[in-house]
Formats: sequence, structure tokens, C-alpha cells
Amino acid sequence: MPLRQTATAMALALFAGPAPAQDAAELIGDAGRGAQIYRSCVTCHQIGPGAENRTGPHLNGIFGRRAGSVEGFDYSDAMDRAHGDGLTWDYARLDAYTENPRALVSGTRMSFRGIKDAQDRHDVLAYLRQFTASPQDIPESAPTAILREVDLPPEVLAIVGDAEYGEYLASECLTCHKRDGSDEGIPSIVAWRAEDFVVAMHAYKQKLRPHPVMQMMAGRLNDEEIAALAAYFEDLD
Ligand code: HEC
Ligand code: HEC
Repeated sequence: MPLRQTATAMALALFAGPAPAQDAAELIGDAGRGAQIYRSCVTCHQIGPGAENRTGPHLNGIFGRRAGSVEGFDYSDAMDRAHGDGLTWDYARLDAYTENPRALVSGTRMSFRGIKDAQDRHDVLAYLRQFTASPQDIPESAPTAILREVDLPPEVLAIVGDAEYGEYLASECLTCHKRDGSDEGIPSIVAWRAEDFVVAMHAYKQKLRPHPVMQMMAGRLNDEEIAALAAYFEDLD
């Protein structure tokens, strides 16, 4: 095995756990087809020469761009926080955000239901990539940057959480998050839809979301524990 591939495989194992190492080449989409799919973005985003901010920020140079960093665009508090945490738009994170914006940035103002089909996402990202001058985190130049998107097996989403156990586990969370749902610096996690909560926790666990404390918190929890916490917090009001 060539050295480069070994390093890639190791990095994938490190970040993505036991997921099958995907061949980077498979991920490079068809930009022509992507241009068609981009029509679902164009009501809110401009791209290309002279692109300006509209409902959404312009998307020139998006690969390698720090989230929430376009001058003069009024981002949501959630995107400002992601910016503060160091979220940067590499391939995997664009893929995750395009699939389900709220899985990566819960309070995002981008009201877009997401593109479920993986090939459609690869194609639209191939299209966007043409407007980044020197792409950094694209599959062929930085294969180690590829992380899985938050794709949870249906069994994990189907776990019915034990709210009582969740209450027990939640005491640690409540040293930071407020039980009454107030949001001063630390976001509220009360009365979320359980599924959104589960997806958000797994995004920390898989290190797609950058916040180190939450990565550590989520990393210690197994699937049942995350479901239990989701069930407990869903019913708090
Ligand atoms: C209904 C309007 C709307 C649609 C449709 C939409 N977006 Fe967005 N997008 C936004 C808004 C608003 C933001 C800023 C989000 C925030 O501040 O939380 C955003 C942010 C983004 C960002 C982050 C930009 C940054 O500077 O950090 C990316 C990347 C993005 N959108 C890509 C897309 C893609 C790709 C599509 C189509 C597949 C799409 N969006 C469709 C409104 C939209
Ligand atoms: C040491 C303080 C601290 C502890 C303890 C903590 N959190 Fe967090 N949590 C944070 C901070 C800060 C954020 C915002 C992170 C970010 O910007 O992504 C956050 C974000 C979150 C989010 C995403 C919120 C959003 O709006 O996107 C969820 C869900 C969450 N925490 C759940 C939990 C759970 C469940 C526990 C207990 C197992 C827990 N947290 C323990 C500080 C903490």
C-alpha cells in the first residue's frame, strides 16, 4: 500500500471510527449536474463574479472559508457561535450542512430542508468548488479532510430514550445548560425535538461540530445515553 494511502486510511480510522474508508475519487461530483441542483440555492445565494449577499451570504471561495465570516452579512447567533468555535467549510462539513443545515448548526437561519441524496450533494459541491480559487479541503488535494456526515443508522434514531435515566445523566449537563431554557452564552437544550437533539449530540461525538468541551461530553455517552438525555430534555419546559 503506498504511504499516502496508509496515512489516509489511518486518518479516516481516527476520525470516522469503523466506517468503511470511502475512496476519495467517489466523492468528486459532476459539476454540470450540480449547476442544476444549485437552482435550489439560488433564491438565497449568489455565486460567481460580482456575487453579493442576498438572503444568504455569497458563496464565492466557500471551500476553506471560516463559517460566518462574510463581511457585512448579518448571521444568526448560532452561525456566529460556530464561527467562534472555529467551524471551517471543508468538504465534509459542507456536505453535512447541505444535507441537514440544523444537524451542524442548530439555530441556523438557513431555512432549507436539505438535500438527502448523497450524489446530488457531491454534484452541487463540485459546482460550488469551481468558485474557490485554490481549494484546500477537496477530496483530491486533502483526502484526510473527509469525514462522514452525520448519517445515523435508523436503529440509532429509533432508540426510545428512558427519560428517567436521562434525568440522572442530565445533572452534569445542567452545570452549564439552564434547566429553565434561558440562553446566556450557553445555548438552551430544553424542549428540542428528540431527533434533533440526538443528531446534534452525534455531530459532536463524531467531531463534525468543533466545540471541544461538547465533543468530550458527547464522546463519553453511548447511543442509549444520548437517547435518554434527548427524551428527558424534550419534555422539560
Ligand atoms: C431560503 C434561503 C436559503 C436557501 C434556499 C439556501 N440557503 Fe444557504 N444560507 C441561507 C442563510 C440565511 C444563511 C446564513 C445562515 C445563518 O446565519 O445561520 C446561509 C448560509 C449558508 C452557508 C454558510 C455560509 C457562511 O458564510 O458561513 C452555506 C455554505 C450555504 N448556505 C450553502 C447553501 C447551499 C449549497 C444551498 C443549496 C443547496 C443553500 N445554501 C440554500 C439561506 C439559504
Ligand atoms: C462545561 C459546560 C457544558 C457542559 C457540562 C455541557 N455542555 Fe452542552 N454546550 C456547551 C456549550 C458552550 C455549547 C455551545 C457549543 C457550540 O458552540 O457548539 C453547548 C452545546 C450543546 C448542544 C447544542 C446546542 C445548539 O444550540 O446547537 C447540545 C445539544 C448540548 N450542548 C447538550 C449537552 C448535554 C446533553 C450535556 C450533558 C451530557 C451537555 N451539553 C453538557 C456547554 C456545556
